[in-house]
Amino acid sequence: MIRVGLLGAGMIGQVHADAYATLPDVEVVSVAGLGAERAARLAEALGATPTIDIMAAAADPRVDVVDVCLPTALHQQATEVAARAGKDVICEKPLALTLEAGRRMIGVCRTARVHLLPAMVVRFFPQYQALAGAVRDGAIGTPASCTLVRQGFYPSGSGGWYRDESRSGGIFLDLMIHDFDWALARFGPAERVFAQLRHAGSVPFTQGMATVRHRSGVLTQLTGTWGHPGPFTTRIEVAGTGGLLQYDSRDSESLELLVLAAPEDAGDVPLPNLATTDNPYRTELLHFFEVISGHAAASVTAEDSLRALALALCAREAARTGRPMAVPSEAA
Ligand SMILES: NC(=O)c1ccc[n+]([C@@H]2O[C@H](COP(=O)([O-])OP(=O)(O)OC[C@H]3O[C@@H](n4cnc5c(N)ncnc54)[C@H](O)[C@@H]3O)[C@@H](O)[C@H]2O)c1
Repeated sequence: MIRVGLLGAGMIGQVHADAYATLPDVEVVSVAGLGAERAARLAEALGATPTIDIMAAAADPRVDVVDVCLPTALHQQATEVAARAGKDVICEKPLALTLEAGRRMIGVCRTARVHLLPAMVVRFFPQYQALAGAVRDGAIGTPASCTLVRQGFYPSGSGGWYRDESRSGGIFLDLMIHDFDWALARFGPAERVFAQLRHAGSVPFTQGMATVRHRSGVLTQLTGTWGHPGPFTTRIEVAGTGGLLQYDSRDSESLELLVLAAPEDAGDVPLPNLATTDNPYRTELLHFFEVISGHAAASVTAEDSLRALALALCAREAARTGRPMAVPSEAA
């Protein structure tokens, strides 16, 4: 049995709690949040103890693993407290607000010989996994370009922290980090990024756009929107020399393969069956517990998360200056 301390009882803390309720051999021992009532509600559902003393919960001798679902500005402190107390750490994205903080987190966990597993959940969405697999297997020939879109309501968070860039990092770091990470994982190191940011003055609306040139030659175009009317939607399209792969969360749960010049063996390209209702947050946590138990190698690492952060920071800076940015080695 692995004993977990859940730090954060907000939006994503609830999602993780729901997943924990279905995981075998995992017991949530404590739930920490500033809003005592919300932490108490989550804790009660899991048979755990609620607390408002977040850093004490990070070092709780009863727990083996600390799951950091706190506002991003608190990730570093919580991770370091937990690691120094000998806990393995699962940390929500983005890893940190700065590269320096992210590097420190990695260093402290390494010194303490504990795992630091970044919750980059898009890596565990079956459609994104299937699409990555199909690209890797050559379903569309050589990939040339990719479009990634992520749009949802304008989040506020406990005390409005999402809307304060000094606490959330803004849309490039908080929302678009998923797609920066996916693109780096699939198309390799980034070389250059150009980006733009638009805030509407009168209503809560922010849109970030970025164009990334990978060293492989692939071009990735990313759009993130906070303030999109309607349900949360994501889209991805990869164009290659042999065709297109596309997925739109609004249309269906399945992946579409459009072959350009139908090769003889087009039917042989394996596309996983996507008729699945697997909860990617559950898949992610299950994988992390396999890693912690020594039964699997991590499919996404803290270093991957740092590379995505480096690229997101470059995009934010490119948008601020209006100039393209050369991407430093962290994103390579
Ligand atoms: N992977 C995903 O899909 C996903 C989705 C949403 C959020 N996130 C990430 O998860 C983390 C938490 O986001 P959330 O939406 O659950 O936040 P939230 O505001 O809904 O919840 C934050 C929790 O932390 C507690 N807290 C402790 N100290 C706090 C402080 N000083 N200020 C505010 N709250 C404090 C709050 O009481 C609450 O329990 C963030 O890093 C966010 O980027 C990831």
